[in-house]
Amino acid sequence: MKTWTLAALLLAGVAATVAPPVLAQPAPPAARPWMNAQVDPDQRTKLLLSQMTFDEKVALLHGAMAMPFGPFKLPSGAIGSAGFIPGNARLGIPALQESDASLGVTNPMMVRGPGDMSTALPSSLALAATFDPAIAYEGGRVVGSEARAKTINVQLAGGVDLARDPRNGRNFEYAGEDPLLAGLIAGESIRGIQSTGVISTAKHYALNDQEHNRNTVDSIIGEAAARESDLLAFQIAIERGQPGSIMCSYNLVNGVYACQHDWLINRVLKGDWGYKGFVMSDWGAVHSLDALMGGLDQQSGEQLDAKVWFDEPLKDAVKAGKIPAARVDDAAGRVLRAMFAAGLFDRTDKPADIDFAAHADVAQHEAEDGIVLLQNRNAILPLAASAKRIVVIGGHADAGVPSGTGSSQVTNPYRKEAMLPIASVPIGGEGMMAAFSNVVFHPSAPLTALRSHLKGAQVSFDTGLYPDSAAAAARNADVAIVFVYQPSGEGDDVPSIDLPMGQNALVEAVAAANPNTIVVVESGNPVALPWADKVGAIVEAWYGGARGGEAIARVLTGEVNPSGRLPMTWPMSEKQLPRPDIPGWAAGPTDRVPVDYNIEGSDVGYRWYARKRETPRYWFGHGLSYTSFAYDKLVVRGGKALEAEVTVTNTGDKAGKDVVQLYLTGRPGGAVRRLVAFQKVSLAPGESRRVRLAGDLRLVADFDAARRRWVIPAGTFSLAIGKDAGSVSLTAQTTLAAATMKP
Ligand code: BGC
Repeated sequence: MKTWTLAALLLAGVAATVAPPVLAQPAPPAARPWMNAQVDPDQRTKLLLSQMTFDEKVALLHGAMAMPFGPFKLPSGAIGSAGFIPGNARLGIPALQESDASLGVTNPMMVRGPGDMSTALPSSLALAATFDPAIAYEGGRVVGSEARAKTINVQLAGGVDLARDPRNGRNFEYAGEDPLLAGLIAGESIRGIQSTGVISTAKHYALNDQEHNRNTVDSIIGEAAARESDLLAFQIAIERGQPGSIMCSYNLVNGVYACQHDWLINRVLKGDWGYKGFVMSDWGAVHSLDALMGGLDQQSGEQLDAKVWFDEPLKDAVKAGKIPAARVDDAAGRVLRAMFAAGLFDRTDKPADIDFAAHADVAQHEAEDGIVLLQNRNAILPLAASAKRIVVIGGHADAGVPSGTGSSQVTNPYRKEAMLPIASVPIGGEGMMAAFSNVVFHPSAPLTALRSHLKGAQVSFDTGLYPDSAAAAARNADVAIVFVYQPSGEGDDVPSIDLPMGQNALVEAVAAANPNTIVVVESGNPVALPWADKVGAIVEAWYGGARGGEAIARVLTGEVNPSGRLPMTWPMSEKQLPRPDIPGWAAGPTDRVPVDYNIEGSDVGYRWYARKRETPRYWFGHGLSYTSFAYDKLVVRGGKALEAEVTVTNTGDKAGKDVVQLYLTGRPGGAVRRLVAFQKVSLAPGESRRVRLAGDLRLVADFDAARRRWVIPAGTFSLAIGKDAGSVSLTAQTTLAAATMKP
């Protein structure tokens, strides 16, 4: 069989067809005792498995892409989305209708027709920048309820790979560089999705930290380093969110493909963490039947693999005694258990209406809380009422806000309420990857929003295509606001942290013409800011989602006091990174590319800078406000747990939100830097609050691979409150008892 790449199939698309939704048929519990919702999921699974034939069990273990492409038709019964596992009418098992992803319910190739709309949330990196798990939960509820309204019952969400490289094309789908922050944000987002009765994944398990050569990249890392970083992020996300499924990744880990990695899946995930759900493959990530014994339960997007291993080859292997039938029972049981636990068997609802207005409010709130004020010289922001002539320049700010590309992209063809065409900018030309890598601009134009918020000012627009004319426009204005953007997405990394498309020259020209220059960056990653000293303010607005433009306008005008904090450290240049060059940049598409993550080990991001005594441009946790905050009276309690209390005061004259960040700075054996707890608090001018923080002990421990335990050495631990990971201001010490903890 031909091996299809995802890009090729998206291009090879044929006319979309829309099939009617398929709902599970309720049946009398007497005939089908597993249909009794009062019985617990484990018991229901046992009851159902006992009635299934071998072939019926195997049918649950593989499924196709749910899109028509090339020779493949839309599978019968699929409503059209990323993936589909047929149901079983005899036993009342509903089909799995699987859709991407964390930022909204996608409609790939418009497979469900052009009228199928979804709310586009800001990027997950923007969400992580809120430092607010409650916002993650709310966003999850939006995605889950829209999925449910469309009769999709599995959402391929919960991206939690750590941002080890600020050029990773998919960092926008993940939640930053810190295991605690990423784990909590992804976990709450998963919990929100599942609260609507939809299964969510956590993905891509594991160490899928580079997109370039993602199918052949080999993440080389020691056990302790992996457990203390990327795996800890997954562990926290799974504890919080209890996802029904885990999606394993394309890459290899220490020489073994992640989707057939006995140690990662059987030993760590299902063994040490006691995970009861099922493991599904990424689309095209299965290389042999060995994956089944390696722990993979379900082969997804099976047309993309060289063989549908989990169908006939699996049946033959069981018949030949090469694979125990019990393993098939285990895999099928895991799929069923996740379905029972999420309530998929108990649904009788029909497609519902979506409250787009309410969901857009959630998207806007998330965008507003995630915007990070990076620099604000002479308090140039918020925009002063005296600014009467304002020029907005560049970044398609007249059209909307950009989004990350790839499978997670919500590509609504028009805005329902206004029927506006959506702007779509191809990156990398119109060749192979074009369909997969168009930068879609969600039609929430910052220019329109600024005009409506600044009634007393004249707000003009310059495309920014020609630096000279942009500079001329800036010269005649009181304030110039330059929008710069960085396209990024699935399938490849950005080759450098520099802004593309001559945008640095644009900012330089505008800043030279007008000292009152404000730069709004819309990016999927940190970018170099070589002109930072020449401009007044810099605002990071990420990929802002359905109401991104409105959120930006409200922050610039001061209606919203910015409270986002960086979930990733911003380097001065690539020279500061553990790997200044992207590994394998020149390698061929099938070349094996080892990436040595032992260089930084578990010291990802700010921990690396602290260890190397390097000063980045901005540390993890950095973010300014229109007010100011002060901390005092830090008390830390040790013993068998770790707790801290600190008083935070809003010392300015505006209401605002602060993120109180508690870092470990020293422990027996030397200095370290690790975020151990954080909390976002909202304070009126002059208000003080005593904030209690409970530290996760795994964050102050080391993982001892030989003993397979977390180990806390007895002794003195130093903790500090920091405005960011680099500027810790208030320190206290405590002693902890020696302890070990299960992995
Ligand atoms: C991506 C996954 C996605 C899947 C299905 C893959 O290319 O890596 O994140 O869920 O496609 O669309």
